[in-house]
Order: sequence, then C-alpha cells, then structure tokens
Amino acid sequence: MYSIIATQPGGISVLQKKEFELSEILPNQVLIKNHSIGVNFIDIYFRKGLYPWPQENNLVLGSEGAGIIEAVGDDVVNLRVGDRVAYAQANNAYATHRILDANLVVRIPDAISCDQAAAAMLKGLTVRYLLKDSFEVKNHHTVLFHAAAGGVGLIAGQWMRVLGAKAIGTAGSDDKCNLAKQHGYEETINYSNEDFLEKIQDLTNQLGVDVVYDSVGKDTMFNSFKALKRHGTIVSFGQSSGAYTDLQMTDLAFGSFHLTRPILFHFYANRNWLENASAELFELISSEKIKLDQITKYPLDNVAQAHTDIENRKTTGSVILEI
Ligand SMILES: NC(=O)c1ccc[n+]([C@@H]2O[C@H](COP(=O)([O-])OP(=O)(O)OC[C@H]3O[C@@H](n4cnc5c(N)ncnc54)[C@H](OP(=O)(O)O)[C@@H]3O)[C@@H](O)[C@H]2O)c1
Repeated sequence: MYSIIATQPGGISVLQKKEFELSEILPNQVLIKNHSIGVNFIDIYFRKGLYPWPQENNLVLGSEGAGIIEAVGDDVVNLRVGDRVAYAQANNAYATHRILDANLVVRIPDAISCDQAAAAMLKGLTVRYLLKDSFEVKNHHTVLFHAAAGGVGLIAGQWMRVLGAKAIGTAGSDDKCNLAKQHGYEETINYSNEDFLEKIQDLTNQLGVDVVYDSVGKDTMFNSFKALKRHGTIVSFGQSSGAYTDLQMTDLAFGSFHLTRPILFHFYANRNWLENASAELFELISSEKIKLDQITKYPLDNVAQAHTDIENRKTTGSVILEI
C-alpha cells in the first residue's frame, strides 16, 4: 500500500511516494481499494498551499476516487464488501487504499466504470450544484461558462444542453473551443486572442448574460461582472489564474448583481443532496446525455506530470490516475 504525499506546500518536487499501513476501521467506516483517482485543480491549490492544510506536513492530496470496498465497519448496513463505490472528499485520495466514512460514499451503477466515476464524481457533482443549487439554470437563460473545455467545463456544457439553456463557453485555444462546441456549448470564445466581453455584448445584443460561472478568477472576473445582465448572477467557484482580490461591494450596485462563492463539500455533506445529485449525474452518464469521452490517464506514481500538464493548461476534460 502506498500513497503520494506532499511533504510541504510547494512545487511538484514536494510530491513523494510513501508506503503506509492501514489504521483500524471504525464502525461507521469502509475500506476502499482505489481503482481510479480523479485529479482536480483543487489538488494544485492544496499542493501549493493556497488552501490551508489540515496539518503541518505530509498531506496526501487527491479529492476524488472510485474503487472496490474491501472491508466494512460493524455499523455499516448499506454497503458490502465487493461493492463498487465512488467519493469526492477533500484530500487523502492519492493512495492505493483509503478508509472513509460510509456516508461519504455512493455505489456506482453497473453501467458506469470506475474510470468514469473517478472522472465525474467531483466534477459532475460540482456541475450539479452550479446549475441547480447556486443558480437554477432554465431554458430561457443565456450562460457564460469560463474554461469550457476543462474537466468541469465539458460536463457543464453537456448538462446545460439537457437543460436547454444557451451556453457560451470560453477556452484558451481554437482546438479547445471546438471541443467545447462538441460538448454542448452553442457559442465559444477563444479568450486568449479575443476580448470575451466584446463578443458577449455582440452575441447578446448588448444585453449581457443571466449568469457567469467563473473559475478562472484574476484574469476574467472584472469583465465577467461587465458581461452580466441587470440582476444577473456571478458564481465564482475557483481561481485557476489566481485569486481576484479587487472586489468592492459597490461593484454589485452597477447592475443589482448577485454573487455567490460556493464549494462542493458544503452540498456534499448533506446525505440527501448527495444521493439525489449523484443519482441524477449517474443517470445522465448512463444514458449518454453526458459523455465522458475526454479522459486522460496517468499512473498514480506519475501524478507530478499530471499536475504539470493541468497547470500548463495542456489538458482537456478529466484527468485520472490509475494504480
Ligand atoms: N468550488 C468548487 O466546489 C469547485 C469544485 C470543482 C472545481 N472547481 C474549480 O473549477 C475549475 C475547473 O476545475 P477542473 O479541475 O475541471 O480544472 P480544468 O478546468 O480542467 O483546468 C483549469 C482550466 O482553467 C483554465 N485556465 C485559465 N487560466 C489559467 C491559468 N492561468 N492557469 C491554469 N489554468 C488556467 C485552463 O483552460 P483554458 O486554457 O481553456 O483557459 C485550464 O485548463 C477550477 O478553478 C477548480 O478549482 C471548484
């Protein structure tokens, strides 16, 4: 059994392989042998120390995975040894095995592979709360979604197509824009060489959009506000280009805007929400309304390369680690 730890906050050189022995399983816990592990931008925020560490050093990164239950605690009634399960929970996923509370785990339907579940659990549930809970997207809405060809972005485009909304996606290259178009975005903007605000004004007859989903932060947020319709909503849910620190409360007064800064784990902690949201996500994947056709795989012990590629904007869709 081994895990990949970050010895301290820093660059990829802090990532190291470390063998470990399992601790005892508590009555409410399960032991999972990971089959596939999702890599997410949040892993990079934690590795760099942008998000506070729960301990001083030796943090096992990784917040998403899928595998097989190898043991269950005495009080666990809804899961059995041999069940295929998935989870999204901050840290401790970059490992061959992990112990988790049973209420943080959901069973994977037969039609979905462990690779697919690891590619979509954290990202797909994020899309679920973005489009349904943070702002409820309806078929009359026009939506601007940044980083549309990324892991979250490709799932979001397809889910917005199901909802019937007009989705406009930004991405950093023409190839990425083409990929986003194949995954539900009606219009795309290559924000590396086009002014996305100007293009949004053209596409909306100067009206602006109902909602902007911004996970890029520093480089986009100022113009994301300007791209909004009056009474529009900004959902800020990440900062891949760095944190946007210039917000004044009075900025919201330009259009009586709404602003929210949600995180998945606050939704996930509600078991009812988790069961409903994951059932909805798995149904969309099983019925191929959401296709997970952009999954890039790396070996677990080469996770440093995965981090490098994600940080350098080389990846599209979901990245997973195989053991
Ligand atoms: N709050 C939550 O609950 C929650 C949950 C999941 C994910 N997130 C956030 O959602 C975002 C997407 O996550 P993901 O894991 O699916 O990642 P991803 O979208 O696959 O990768 C991030 C993308 O951001 C874009 N980007 C723009 N400027 C960048 C820069 N300076 N450096 C690196 N990337 C830059 C790149 O796309 P282009 O080249 O096309 O610009 C890159 O591919 C992240 O910000 C993540 O933190 C938040």
